[in-house]
Amino acid sequence: MANNAEIQRRRTFAIISHPDAGKTTLTEKLLLFGGAIHVAGAVKSNKIKKTATSDWMEIEKQRGISVATSVMGFEYEGYKINILDTPGHQDFAEDTYRTLTAVDSVIIVVDVAKGVEMQTRKLMEVCRMRNTPVIIFVNKLDREGRDPFDILDELEAELKINVRPLSWPIGIGARFKGVYNIFENTLDLFTPDKQRVSERVEIEDVNDARVDEAIGETDAEKLREDLDLIEGVYPEFDEAEYLAGKTAPVFFGSALNTFGVKELLDCFVKIAPSPRPVVTEERTVNPDEDAFSGFIFKIHANMDPNHRSCIAFLKICSGKFERNAVYKHIRTGKPLKFSAPTAFMAQKKSVVDEAFPGDIVGLPDTGNFKIGDTVTGGEMLHFKGLPSFSPEMFKYIENTDPMKSKQLEKGIQQLMDEGVAQLFTNTFNGRKIIGTVGQLQFEVIQYRLLHEYGAACRWEPISLYKACWIESDDKDALEAFKKRKHQFMAVDRQGRDVFMADSNYVLQMARNDFPKITFHFTSEF
Ligand code: G4P
Repeated sequence: MANNAEIQRRRTFAIISHPDAGKTTLTEKLLLFGGAIHVAGAVKSNKIKKTATSDWMEIEKQRGISVATSVMGFEYEGYKINILDTPGHQDFAEDTYRTLTAVDSVIIVVDVAKGVEMQTRKLMEVCRMRNTPVIIFVNKLDREGRDPFDILDELEAELKINVRPLSWPIGIGARFKGVYNIFENTLDLFTPDKQRVSERVEIEDVNDARVDEAIGETDAEKLREDLDLIEGVYPEFDEAEYLAGKTAPVFFGSALNTFGVKELLDCFVKIAPSPRPVVTEERTVNPDEDAFSGFIFKIHANMDPNHRSCIAFLKICSGKFERNAVYKHIRTGKPLKFSAPTAFMAQKKSVVDEAFPGDIVGLPDTGNFKIGDTVTGGEMLHFKGLPSFSPEMFKYIENTDPMKSKQLEKGIQQLMDEGVAQLFTNTFNGRKIIGTVGQLQFEVIQYRLLHEYGAACRWEPISLYKACWIESDDKDALEAFKKRKHQFMAVDRQGRDVFMADSNYVLQMARNDFPKITFHFTSEF
């Protein structure tokens, strides 16, 4: 219980959006408020520009930048805020899913003109699976866009979550005058400016005559009507519903103009959860327990090609993490001691002596860790919730340089440890199949194998629909299935049985023919 004050003031979250909605811009503005950076433009977008899918320099650059911005910590009004960055490019969606397992809440950015886009919908599904509390920021109000009531309807229908506006825009695009903050009953006028915060009008409430003076009678009337409608249509904001992941408060603004961002941040620190209990296979771990525990959710390998240097990102779940203390690596049973753990403040990395639940520390690693590994003070715990999702694309990987087969093997293993893609081994012919969520990952793997391990490979097409992890209580049924489908059976890296279905039709047939077998699209069930 000794760490309670530290735990209560921590807010660990991720900002997610469809590319181009304004995630990078919003992150940067939050860092500006936290005093972590001093000028706009300091945070580089970590996205690979769409035009640059085969620009290798760009990929290298992205890896460099994304380590620096993987975690951005800063202090704001007594709170310690940790923003976990997620890759912008959709081919790295798996990385984003994993990062979402390490956050306690999420801010979703939506472009007011485009509404809910594909990637936002997918990421919301992951949040829903975990009941992650969500706040929505509708961005780019300085541009022409959709009616805010329409946007709210769309958010509710597409993201399958109740919404409750906590701020409300006055006009949009060229007629955008500001936002009324329903949460605090304040009015902020819009002045397009990338560095400066907006002008606040002191008012009692929305019926104050100063509202009419500030935005004109017509807009003031419309604002009052809109607010009446909101009160009529949406139930009072209920913090418990938000914390349960059932209702998402909605804010409007313009990240580029630093407008509506402070309102978002002020409300966020008040309502967003401090580190939550985490479920392990053995029991639920509470952050205020004295004993230390945490898990690895991300690994960055080979940042410097001359050294095999990795950074493993550890999310602290309970207790206090201390430099040079001896911890247990649960999967290997080995004792571990970290003499140079790093913490992330703004874009700087520095060695830390201690860290608390909610914090992320970077552990220099020489290949000890895999994603999902648990580290504790000694207790046997296994954190759950880092599933592998079935990849969307599959290819055979073939060695093209027989002299380098060892290097290739090692490279594949390490890249898979890092979570770049998934490896399945066909049990019928022994061939290795790599599964990814996008074409770009194949290109990255091939490039990195060559440049970091000196191993050349080529891809061979294979037509597969999904990887299905299979299980059954009935051993005989399982064996019968494996025998019948022997050409399509594979094992994942943990040795679990995976059925590589080559079409949806085949999968449906298999389900009909083998009712005792359960088919899963994620590795954790
Ligand atoms: P992302 O990380 O979600 O992919 O989006 P990012 O912040 O990079 O923003 C995408 C584009 O949208 C950027 O323009 C950014 O300047 C712009 N943007 C962000 N917020 C606002 C806003 O409130 N209003 C307006 N009008 N634009 C906004 P870009 O031209 O792609 O990049 P840049 O050259 O400006 O960096």
